[in-house]
Amino acid sequence: MTLTIRKLGPDDDRSAFRSGNPDLDRFFARYAAQNQFRHHIGTTYVAIDDAGAIVGFATVAAAEIEAEKMPATRRKRLPKYPLPALRLARLAVDERAKGQGVGSVLLRAVLVLARQLADDIGCVGVVVDAKPEAVAFYEKLGFLRLEVVAGELGDRPQPLPMFLELGQLGRAK
Ligand SMILES: CC(C)(COP(=O)(O)OP(=O)(O)OC[C@H]1O[C@@H](n2cnc3c(N)ncnc32)[C@H](O)[C@@H]1OP(=O)(O)O)[C@@H](O)C(=O)NCCC(=O)NCCS
Repeated sequence: MTLTIRKLGPDDDRSAFRSGNPDLDRFFARYAAQNQFRHHIGTTYVAIDDAGAIVGFATVAAAEIEAEKMPATRRKRLPKYPLPALRLARLAVDERAKGQGVGSVLLRAVLVLARQLADDIGCVGVVVDAKPEAVAFYEKLGFLRLEVVAGELGDRPQPLPMFLELGQLGRAK
């Protein structure tokens, strides 16, 4: 499958996209465009297959990461105030296209954005609140689990904060 990654356009048909996660599908169908074009609070990038269908999307937004939540190895060398980062707010692949590398290609595009941000205004890396079932996917691509303050997460399965440092970019698969 040859993929094209580009920004969501106002006229893209988002109604047929099904990732298997109703919350993500609802976000894509109802909110992705208005967040991007009206509110300017996040930008969605879509993966288009050879037939012109949207087979995946990634939504990004500006973020900060608290210095004390950085991986221990990096913490010491960085200032203590919140650091600029790029948030991967949402990532989903259509059920028909899963397991064919679409998620990885979208993630790589997000990493390129983070690198551009680093050059233009400053960015230490990419943060994501990973759904429990996606933690292994992110780990494969080089993300680390962020420090979680004791008691911050309850007993229920919760999104796990994860981080990919820009310095690690070259090492991501
Ligand atoms: C998680 C998701 C984005 C992965 O997309 P994908 O296109 O299927 O992933 P890829 O084909 O690029 O897979 C890349 C690698 O990760 C692995 N992988 C994919 N999903 C995985 C998962 N849930 N757990 C562990 N490994 C996973 C693949 O086997 C592949 O490994 P390989 O390189 O050794 O072959 C997709 O399954 C999805 O949309 N899930 C539902 C929504 C979701 O959980 N989004 C994340 C929100 S935080």
